[in-house]
Amino acid sequence: MAETWTPSTWRQKPIQQVPDYPDADALKATEAQLSTFPPLVFAGEARRLKKSLANVAEGNGFLLQGGDCAESFLEHGADNIRDFFRAFLQMAVVLTFGAQQPVVKVGRIAGQFAKPRSSNFEKQGDIELPSYRGDIINGIEFTPEARIPAPERQLKAYRQSAATLNLLRAFAMGGYANLENVHQWMLGFVKDSPQGERYKKLADRISETMDFMKAVGITSENNPALRETDFFTSHEALLLGYEEALTRVDSTSGDWYATSGHMIWIGDRTRQPDHAHVEFCRGIKNPIGLKCGPSMTADGLLQLIDILNPTNEAGRLTLICRFGYDKVAEHLPRLIRAVEREGRKVVWSCDPMHGNTITLNNYKTRPFDRVLSEVESFFQIHRSEGSHPGGIHIEMTGKDVTECTGGARAVSAGDLQDRYHTHCDPRLNADQALELAFLLAERMKSGREEKRLAVNA
Ligand code: PEP
Ligand code: CO
Repeated sequence: MAETWTPSTWRQKPIQQVPDYPDADALKATEAQLSTFPPLVFAGEARRLKKSLANVAEGNGFLLQGGDCAESFLEHGADNIRDFFRAFLQMAVVLTFGAQQPVVKVGRIAGQFAKPRSSNFEKQGDIELPSYRGDIINGIEFTPEARIPAPERQLKAYRQSAATLNLLRAFAMGGYANLENVHQWMLGFVKDSPQGERYKKLADRISETMDFMKAVGITSENNPALRETDFFTSHEALLLGYEEALTRVDSTSGDWYATSGHMIWIGDRTRQPDHAHVEFCRGIKNPIGLKCGPSMTADGLLQLIDILNPTNEAGRLTLICRFGYDKVAEHLPRLIRAVEREGRKVVWSCDPMHGNTITLNNYKTRPFDRVLSEVESFFQIHRSEGSHPGGIHIEMTGKDVTECTGGARAVSAGDLQDRYHTHCDPRLNADQALELAFLLAERMKSGREEKRLAVNA
């Protein structure tokens, strides 16, 4: 029998990655205030996402999840959000074409502010300060004042999330995502790259199809599916006081939902089965992600699945695998076999970022060929295990940054200093993200052809 759950039972459990707030009363007051604020997302939306993810778990769809490693207060602006959304839509269109299946679109956005850290301290020269933990907790500047956790940052993160979500909803539903705009999503700097050329060809084909459909009477005016798209939000549920304050009962079902985002995930550092983060997540009904790194054992995973998805509901749980290009072949097959053997319904997603971080010229970076290599292995392994490679989880931006090395317009180690803007981990730039989408599309297409041949054999 599972113990009783409330949004605050996590407080009785051991917990990792807790900020050291100097003023407990101020923290409490902020959390009390947050708990009176309106929800950012609605239970019905989270249920709709879960339904879409259930289709992915059954093999009928693909999850595209991506965005900043860490959102920042300083870079909050319409242009950033628009450029991200454009790059994301481009990827989604390429994937839809490749998969010939619905692509479930989930941003790492409108709430992705809290960061787990490997070390509690950062040293520069002789000075050691507490680590930066994301704008919702402390400041990135390397000064003692900035690094003190400040509760009022949670209010700012909430308001930024609300404003971001407002714009995203408008983009998704208000005409910007209309397939008739497929050419306009191209970003200026991508235009003359090889990816830009490929994208233009695909967009031409889509436009041609749209013209044909228009001729037979199917237009974006009479068909919302051409005009609108479902776009969902997600973030790591790391700062549990904030999450608790935004956890509400859904009046239609009587169930608890996290209303800070549609989907939340448990990080690789906070997935201990008897600790606070798992405790919090088990009681809410949202779709949940679980990061799986090299230290995840098959038994450990089954135990977590039992806790997080005891009724084996499809769409509830997405396993976000992040092993590293040279470790995925060692770890993924045993997890897939255990899950398949026990008949557990999950979405298998590949995070090719977090196991492939290296340091070059003092910059944290990720070689793009390693990112691609982990994705390739992920697809191959699923093909040989007979399971569905259901999604991808990436850190990306719509901006022309130089944070990951490689790609068709090769970013070199020496280029990293040019436009290295991330507040935490290195992100794919729009060009690299699009290149990845084309590779994925090819893999999905050949997977489809293989299946067709098998059926006709
Ligand atoms: C992240 O997604 O930014 C992250 C910290 O991932 P992980 O928990 O897999 O290390
Ligand atoms: Co990251």
